[in-house]
Amino acid sequence: MSSDVVLLEGDGIGPEITKSVVRILDAAGADLKYHAFDIGQTAFDKCGKLIPEETLDAINEFKVALKGPVTTPVGKGFRSVNVSLRLKYDLYVNLRPAKSIPGISKFQNVDIVTVRENTEDLYIGEEKEIAGGFEAIKRITEKSSERIIRYAFDYAKKHGRKKVTCIHKANILKKSDGLFLSVFEKVAGEYQGIEADSKIVDNMCMQLVMYPEKYDVLVAPNLYGDIISDLIAGLVGGLGLVAGANIGSDAAIFEAVHGSAPDIAGKGIANPLALLNGACMMLDHMGKRDVSSRIQSAVSKVLQSKTHLTQDLGGNATGEQFAGEIIRCL
Ligand code: NAI
Repeated sequence: MSSDVVLLEGDGIGPEITKSVVRILDAAGADLKYHAFDIGQTAFDKCGKLIPEETLDAINEFKVALKGPVTTPVGKGFRSVNVSLRLKYDLYVNLRPAKSIPGISKFQNVDIVTVRENTEDLYIGEEKEIAGGFEAIKRITEKSSERIIRYAFDYAKKHGRKKVTCIHKANILKKSDGLFLSVFEKVAGEYQGIEADSKIVDNMCMQLVMYPEKYDVLVAPNLYGDIISDLIAGLVGGLGLVAGANIGSDAAIFEAVHGSAPDIAGKGIANPLALLNGACMMLDHMGKRDVSSRIQSAVSKVLQSKTHLTQDLGGNATGEQFAGEIIRCL
């Protein structure tokens, strides 16, 4: 596979963590050819477009992107650039693995992969004014439900996972979530040897905090998957650690689960590890497993020695110092 990668550093803490991640990738010998482009407010300020044509052309051409976080204004302003990219390239899978790190995570028994549907649900952004307020459309279709649920079972089969749990609220949303659940039950029947169960989303939140060791692969409509994966990030040590891959049949965009963290942007204290984990998922996707394993073992050494941890992990190193120590351990 080609070594071309579209690099979208985003905004907020995006530029600083992207810089650290690229340093580590280069030091590890990933041998990638980066094509850097703007997105979001940074792009808008330069050319009046949130996702410029040349950014789209580059993703079309190279098919793989590493993306820093992008700010989406709350309550007003433009549609999320992340959601737009996911819809544009039909990146229907949002894959978010999270595993406990000895000595770092609050919970030592977590090894969960969230498979979140990435194109439907409330994220289609169809809101309209009604008398006295607004209403938003939650879209769940059989086709999109089936492809994400199949992806979850295929992932479980391929990676030797034992169980897939469907998250829903079909007791209240009998038609939309009811459809997601019924498709899950139909598809589950085709995968002998993989346990299938389902949980209502509110119960699932409690289960994950009380008994995370009971869960393996989770599959969820967009909104529940978004919320649950942040909860699971908290179980393993916070948003500074967890990555996500947006995967379609033609292109894939790798990123951190966290956002642009405006509260700490520019202070140099952001943890680059979540984006680095996203970059490792990208290396695996590109067939460079040896490089991602080398990076992961260096990261493990740094996390175990605890001498260069960033503030979110209880240390006082800057993001650059943390990255420098990973490079030293490579
Ligand atoms: P956030 O994830 O940016 O921050 C939540 C908390 O986690 C903050 O206290 C922040 O300081 C901390 N945090 C996040 N990343 C960290 C890191 N690498 N190291 C250390 N601490 C870290 O969530 P928030 O504040 O709700 O969203 C900020 C903006 O990001 C919003 O505009 C939102 O729309 C956008 N966003 C973008 C995403 C993306 O580009 N994929 C994903 C999530 C949010």
